[in-house]
Amino acid sequence: LITANDRGKKAAGENAVNYIEDGMTLGLGSGSTVYWALKKLSEQVKQGLNVKGIPSSKRTESWAKNLGIPLTTFHEIQELDLAIDGADEIDANLHLLKGGGGSLVREKIVNTASKRVIIIADQSKRVAQLGNRPLPVEVLPFGWEVTAKRISHLGAHITLRDKENQPFISDNGNYILDCQFPLITDPAELHNTLIQLVGVVETGLFVELADRVILGQDDELHYLEK
Ligand code: A5P
Repeated sequence: LITANDRGKKAAGENAVNYIEDGMTLGLGSGSTVYWALKKLSEQVKQGLNVKGIPSSKRTESWAKNLGIPLTTFHEIQELDLAIDGADEIDANLHLLKGGGGSLVREKIVNTASKRVIIIADQSKRVAQLGNRPLPVEVLPFGWEVTAKRISHLGAHITLRDKENQPFISDNGNYILDCQFPLITDPAELHNTLIQLVGVVETGLFVELADRVILGQDDELHYLEK
């Protein structure tokens, strides 16, 4: 069954490829919306478009390899022209909540290394305020119980993310705490507080990172800009 949101993801993902120019270096985001961008991009690569991408997750890396999209690494290049990534929540200021797929650390490294960041999503990701869903926070496995307690003292209900009854392990070998706060009124402040806790690797709050958002609703597109 294909839903209106699925069609929205596809429309947004394919549209983002219009922003890619010959010779660009790209940040390749993660998630099912990015998949559509990669698929479209692979057609253009087959027709001769010359680009190189850095994937933000092992899953994206394997998709890109299968689709024949040339890859590079931060060993070769430290600044990218354009990153295309998904999101779990997007507010009116273009602040994002990410990490539903567990790739937030690499996504943040890739996005902050890019001159421009375009976020693609279906319309359902747009929210009045971030925090309807739990905020993913990547933490070191060592002492995660202590880190979780400190975060819960900030007012969150914490769940250690699991996969098949084992802790979910990120691409970086860490754990993810899904932290349900009351609605997040100041994403920058919350991020700054969390990132100072020992054991916290990174948070899923992406503040001031997106330059443009492409939202798909069925086959229709809506744009948000800073
Ligand atoms: C991955 O960690 C997330 O930040 C993804 O970008 C996010 O979950 C979007 O995924 P979908 O495009 O599958 O909704």
